[in-house]
Amino acid sequence: MVINGLKGFFDDARSIAQRDPAACGVWQVIFVYSGFHAVVLHRMAHWLFRHHMKCIARALSQINRFFTGIEIHPGAKIGRRLFIDHGMGLVIGETAEIGDDCTLYHGVTLGGTGKDKGKRHPTLGNNVLIGAGAKILGPFKVGDYAMIGANSVVLHEVPAEATVVGVPGRVIKHEGRPIRHNVELDHDSAPDPIEQEICQLRRRMASLEAMFQTDVNCQEAPEEPGQQEETSIK
Ligand SMILES: CC(C)(COP(=O)(O)OP(=O)(O)OC[C@H]1O[C@@H](n2cnc3c(N)ncnc32)[C@H](O)[C@@H]1OP(=O)(O)O)[C@@H](O)C(=O)NCCC(=O)NCCS
Repeated sequence: MVINGLKGFFDDARSIAQRDPAACGVWQVIFVYSGFHAVVLHRMAHWLFRHHMKCIARALSQINRFFTGIEIHPGAKIGRRLFIDHGMGLVIGETAEIGDDCTLYHGVTLGGTGKDKGKRHPTLGNNVLIGAGAKILGPFKVGDYAMIGANSVVLHEVPAEATVVGVPGRVIKHEGRPIRHNVELDHDSAPDPIEQEICQLRRRMASLEAMFQTDVNCQEAPEEPGQQEETSIK
């Protein structure tokens, strides 16, 4: 267990040193990165929590918060190589789950939306990036390799490999392909009410244009050779 713990400790530090362009090596991460300290202390608090020492676990998480400015409930499940960059103001709720190789910036909240008991915080897949100040609220899944823009507020499930931005958050890229709801007339998927209105107007304009075009085509269509004579006979 101790060997596994030490391996995980150095694994976490090494991955931060590799992912942060400002880092000067593993030892700097170990000694001065508060995001790293927060994860190490959380792993201890989580161990205590799982072994029915919930009060001590909670006290340790408060000490963690005091020194790092990062509040992680001891019940939260955190995968390997989490990188908390800067960290200050970050909150992770009790039933939140975080996969491997995720990156969270300062001001991120993995929170709930009400006072319900049970699973009420999000589950992040692997390699998820959450930008500074983003709020992910509710017991839904954020898929692998998803990216959440800085200051977004996400209230619904996010598919794997999607990029979500805005308030409320909406998917602007999926599997590398940009998605423009108002251009693609996909108004049901645009959560922004103004954008929905624009989508509906564009849809109505497109159908009016199509009707107009059909009328013009009918009027401009050359008459059949016998048609003129038929009309004149009548
Ligand atoms: C969301 C994010 C990951 C997208 O990165 P990307 O895939 O390179 O996307 P782009 O920069 O090409 O932006 C795509 C579109 O989303 C918009 N956008 C990007 N981030 C946004 C955000 N946080 N909020 C609102 N819109 C955003 C861009 O303006 C662009 O719109 P356009 O196509 O109409 O011009 C990135 O912008 C982000 O927010 N990263 C978090 C970084 C962070 O928190 N850093 C803190 C360092 S201390």
